[in-house]
Amino acid sequence: MMHRVVFLGPPGAGKGTQAAEIARELGIPHLSTGDLLRAAVAARTPLGLEADGHMRAGQLVPDDLVLRILHDRLAEPDARTGYLLDGFPRNLAQAEALGKFAEVDRVVSFDISPDLLVRRLSERRVCSKCQSVYNLSTKPPKVPDRCDRDGTPLVQRPDDRPEAVTTRLKVYAEQTAPLLDFYQKRHLLRPIDASGTPDEVATRLRRALA
Ligand code: AP5
Ligand code: MG
Repeated sequence: MMHRVVFLGPPGAGKGTQAAEIARELGIPHLSTGDLLRAAVAARTPLGLEADGHMRAGQLVPDDLVLRILHDRLAEPDARTGYLLDGFPRNLAQAEALGKFAEVDRVVSFDISPDLLVRRLSERRVCSKCQSVYNLSTKPPKVPDRCDRDGTPLVQRPDDRPEAVTTRLKVYAEQTAPLLDFYQKRHLLRPIDASGTPDEVATRLRRALA
């Protein structure tokens, strides 16, 4: 069965955590526009330099940049047999654009309370080298402040600072949440409860994708 899946959910809902695992299980690439943009920022490409300020502020990166990066990534051979889009589309213009160049079979939305999001984001730490994601209380590294895989110091994402988190939550409510209705009307939406442990969420997710 072909899997062309979108993960829709607020910042900190656990999209990236679940996507890494389920994409491996389904044998499809995990395409996170946030990860692709952060890689462009780190590589200091022209696109990355333009995206950086928007991301630090917690605002969306302009649609034309994001569409370009995603369109190019979807053209790679591994995306021929399916894909998991994490963090794209993020507004109605992107959803309409996506509909013109790629199919979507299912949209999983992550339901979770704002309190839990703020907590998860404030406790998130990432490896500055391999980008592995940790959480100070729910997924601590074995050695404090060091990545389990390569021992590199962990850092906080610039947009996980409280001011940027407030903006990201507002941007989600105003620009991204309308997509719930957009996909509901197209009978593609499968909401899941994103609270609880990662294993509990993974079980709900497998059911939603079965
Ligand atoms: P992006 O990278 O997509 O960030 P986001 O949507 O804000 O989501 P996050 O990555 O913060 O959260 P997540 O749901 O992946 O949670 P995670 O699994 O890490 O986008 C960043 C920026 O890029 C945007 O603000 C924008 O500027 C730009 N951008 C990206 N896409 C764009 C687009 N399409 N258009 C325009 N601009 C775009 O988990 C969070 C924490 O919680 C971790 O510490 C984790 O360990 C922990 N955790 C996860 N699950 C659980 C659980 N079940 N229980 C306890 N802890 C958990
Ligand atoms: Mg993520």
